[in-house]
Amino acid sequence: MKTKIAKKFQELFGCEGDFFASAGRINLIGEHTDYNGGYVFPGAIDKGIIAEIKPNGLGKVRAFSLDINEYVEFGLEEADAPSQSWARYIFGVCRETIKRGFKVEGFDTAFAGDVPLGAGLSSSAALESTFAYAVNYLFNGEKIDRFELAKIGQSTEHNYCGVKCGIMDQFASCFGKKGALIRLNCKTLEYKYFPFEPKGYKLVLIDSCVKHELASSAYNKRRASCENAAAAIRKNHPEVEFLSDAKRVWLDEVRSEIPEEDFLRAEYVIGEVQRVLDVCDALERGDYETVGEMMYQTHFGLSKLYEVSCEELDFLNKLARKMDVTGSRVMGGGFGGCTINLVKDELYDAFVKTATEQFSAKFGHAPKVYDVVISDGARKL
Ligand code: GLA
Repeated sequence: MKTKIAKKFQELFGCEGDFFASAGRINLIGEHTDYNGGYVFPGAIDKGIIAEIKPNGLGKVRAFSLDINEYVEFGLEEADAPSQSWARYIFGVCRETIKRGFKVEGFDTAFAGDVPLGAGLSSSAALESTFAYAVNYLFNGEKIDRFELAKIGQSTEHNYCGVKCGIMDQFASCFGKKGALIRLNCKTLEYKYFPFEPKGYKLVLIDSCVKHELASSAYNKRRASCENAAAAIRKNHPEVEFLSDAKRVWLDEVRSEIPEEDFLRAEYVIGEVQRVLDVCDALERGDYETVGEMMYQTHFGLSKLYEVSCEELDFLNKLARKMDVTGSRVMGGGFGGCTINLVKDELYDAFVKTATEQFSAKFGHAPKVYDVVISDGARKL
């Protein structure tokens, strides 16, 4: 990938720049908990973005996406926002950096990636954190800390891409470390690395290749439901800042005051926050059966209470259960994308084969299969 990028960069700009990279992510458990102040448990993966970048002294950005085969130029003022969605991520990162009082000057860039788009692996966070890291390195002497780099990516989503996401994806791609998952408390931003080398098991992603058009508005709607439930609970329990602070019984107290839909969303979130902690405890005991069982519970919640699964993902989950796969669930925001599966080594081949065959027979297209390698996040190459 690096060679391809270097060739294009040379062709377009006639010089050489520095290379920066960042990663997509998986999440073992803790879905839709981040914007509720709860725990998540992600890790960066060996699929990501690589960008070659060089300051150009022109006061504007000249960018080429090799994957989309498109060239875009934009200035660094608010009014200069490009219309191409991929370029808005880069523009947003520049603007959010400037808004925080840091420096961004014009630069040239060519970049490419291998995070499958729309698979729930956070290709957008990989893009944001690559550029946030690079802009910090090139123009700010690395004065911006990694927490702020993650927040620059998150604010880019909020203010330039219309997704009111939490901090998980950008955090994972800024803090990711080879071989380790990160348990993050999204309220305090305290985090802990957990070495993740499950002996006798593999993690595999099965990508339904389904993408839902209205995913970002549906995502924002889920968030609004949670905030509505939290606000109702707060009237009785002022200490509830985020939904994750609420006890299950406190939610029951307000059931008749909020739409049933919001109640179900909140019920899922409160359960999920606890499951992350249970999974971390189980991992420390080497108890993968419990980890897997929690993953199935999460899938149930995401499908029936949070309603972010779909027929294809439910099918893959059911098949995993039938084949005695240890754990399986829809991963990421939902509305399409992947299931993440914890599979015993001896079952791996049969599971992948059967899932591919049966899914293809039912839906008329084959799923994609990705093995997971937990890797480093944002960095200079
Ligand atoms: C998307 C968002 C994250 C998180 C997940 C669901 O990936 O970007 O902030 O909310 O969905 O866990």
